[in-house]
Amino acid sequence: MTVEVHVELRASGAVDAVKRDDIMVIIDVLRCSSTIIVALANGASEIIPASTIGKAKELKKRHPNYVLAGERRGLMPQGFELGNSPREFTSEKIYGKGIILTTTNGTKAFEIAKDARPVFVGSFLNAEAAGKAVYVGAKKNSRGISLIACGRAGRLSIEDFACAGTILEMMPTDKLTLSDGAHAALFASKGAGENVAALLCSSEHGRYLKSIGLTKDIEFCSQMNRYTNVPVFEEGRIYTGGFSRHKTTNH
Ligand code: MLT
Repeated sequence: MTVEVHVELRASGAVDAVKRDDIMVIIDVLRCSSTIIVALANGASEIIPASTIGKAKELKKRHPNYVLAGERRGLMPQGFELGNSPREFTSEKIYGKGIILTTTNGTKAFEIAKDARPVFVGSFLNAEAAGKAVYVGAKKNSRGISLIACGRAGRLSIEDFACAGTILEMMPTDKLTLSDGAHAALFASKGAGENVAALLCSSEHGRYLKSIGLTKDIEFCSQMNRYTNVPVFEEGRIYTGGFSRHKTTNH
């Protein structure tokens, strides 16, 4: 039997994935997913995603030792300790610590997916490991797969969509039944080919990040398979999943 795969084009698409009882991968390449992957690879103990700044600050009161991190309009909100740049989450800063993370789009998908299980986190940084983990899980448990390309302000983001296609390419595609969205994501990934960095630079959010001086984040997030950890979101927290070995300890 083949595994059914859907690609959702925005964070709110996680609602349909929950209804289908699919195994999910949440993808926000620039930069929420990439930051989560790096933070856990560099030794963060867990990440609690929060959809709003208010909720994040409430969580900080309950967990004063956790690092309060996130962004609005790409920049660290006032009173926060870290922004949402994956390059900030070095082991010197976060090893052994819990993190509370709120971002504009990415962390909203986690709120929608809070009752689903399992929910993985993917980006170009761990595409191969994420594709393998989700395919193995779906096959073993006779479940479908939904790749949630989080997008931006309720609209498609090409970098998330193409990354969904890249994650798909890591699965045995002849053993999958693809929705048209999944099919199109594969085309987008193949179209990008080796030029992931160029795609990210020319994307709407990439251009915005560049305009606020964060070009280095775009380059960082373009790296293919730098990490092999696949974070898992469960009961409101994100942990390092089964594939926890990473190729580099820091950046
Ligand atoms: C988001 O969740 O909207 C993003 O991660 C925004 C960003 O910080 O680039």
